[in-house]
Amino acid sequence: MAKLQTTKITEGDSCFSVPKQSFSDPHHCPVFYNPEMQFNRDLSTIFLKTCIEHCKITKPRLFDGYTGTGIRGIRYLKESDIDTAVLCDAGDASIPFIKKNILLNKVSKRAAVMHMDVNQALSTSPLFDVIEMDPFGSPIQNIDSAFRRGKKKFILSLTFTDLANLCGGHKDACKRFYNAQSINCAFCHELAMRIIIGHVANIASLHEFGVTPLVSWYQGHYVKTFLLCESGALKADANFDKLGYAWLCKKCGNRGTSVEMLSKCDCGEKLNVAGPLWLDKFSSKEVLKKAAVNLAEQKFYAEAQQAKLVKFMGLLFEESEAPLFYSLSELCSQAKLHVPKLVDFMNKLQSNGFEVTATHFAPGCFKTNATIKNILALLK
Ligand SMILES: C[S@@+](CC[C@H](N)C(=O)[O-])C[C@H]1O[C@@H](n2cnc3c(N)ncnc32)[C@H](O)[C@@H]1O
Ligand SMILES: [Zn+2]
Repeated sequence: MAKLQTTKITEGDSCFSVPKQSFSDPHHCPVFYNPEMQFNRDLSTIFLKTCIEHCKITKPRLFDGYTGTGIRGIRYLKESDIDTAVLCDAGDASIPFIKKNILLNKVSKRAAVMHMDVNQALSTSPLFDVIEMDPFGSPIQNIDSAFRRGKKKFILSLTFTDLANLCGGHKDACKRFYNAQSINCAFCHELAMRIIIGHVANIASLHEFGVTPLVSWYQGHYVKTFLLCESGALKADANFDKLGYAWLCKKCGNRGTSVEMLSKCDCGEKLNVAGPLWLDKFSSKEVLKKAAVNLAEQKFYAEAQQAKLVKFMGLLFEESEAPLFYSLSELCSQAKLHVPKLVDFMNKLQSNGFEVTATHFAPGCFKTNATIKNILALLK
């Protein structure tokens, strides 16, 4: 194979050697580095640092399962208070990049490299405080291994990009990988996140672990979640109290969640049902608040990048913890009504005594405790 041309880049507080091809065609490059995921890595480093502080984990030992060039694991070592890290990748061409980036960032004493499959690497390793999985597609086939190699209290950090499976596109694949069904609708990315957390919680229960989401978000083509996993039969049993279903009536727009699976809407129409899925919070306000403080203390971000991070984290913090949301343009088009400005309509809901927030899942959408009947009455 021809030698890859390389270039140096800076991300966060670190410097990396990456293939030049990453900037023209990252998805066909034998070594994976996607510059467009920098925002994700910036958020992830701040959130991981905060989660570690929040969970009071000392001298955390990290496993970065799909490390690519090593960029994520090395940034965690330098920016998120990770003490030692195992950087693992099965790709032959990735290994020289990981080794070079360890040297470039002077973390040789704290980083080890494993050149093998994630499940194999985990099966031969001692226990970890943080397990990171950012693969192509879904890490769902690694969750069992993660629960075998997580300490009694550990943080599981997962990225999913198989959103077509999780958003109602491929029903068979959703059933096969997540034992769930989804709905192709305006809030399908929230359903995707809740199906993921619900299914991971199910696997956690098998290993007698309870799961608490610390921070989760959706952006463009992925869902990311940081989960606190704690060992204990009672904690594992408590996972089941947070599982249930979401439903949508495509005739009248009614939507909601329930512990039992419902089949019929109040209007008489058959409901579309998604689940089993996670009904509880997908982020902790406390973690998001502390993360904002940690971000403000970082000095290495350019002003524009810092502002972008502040804005996105603010949106996550402000978002209501109640499940599901409405698309204003979809509601108006179905009811054949003129679309008001989102901010004006949100103010109207608020002045009529309802709670309302924006959502990070989609612009032009809102979360509220108003019913569909309340909303339509205020739109007319
Ligand atoms: C999406 S990339 C990882 C990107 C990286 N986390 C980052 O932030 O830049 C997925 C990586 O997984 C590696 N890979 C694919 N299958 C694997 C397996 N079964 N075990 C370990 N690594 C694997 C690929 O070589 C590739 O580098
Ligand atoms: Zn209905």
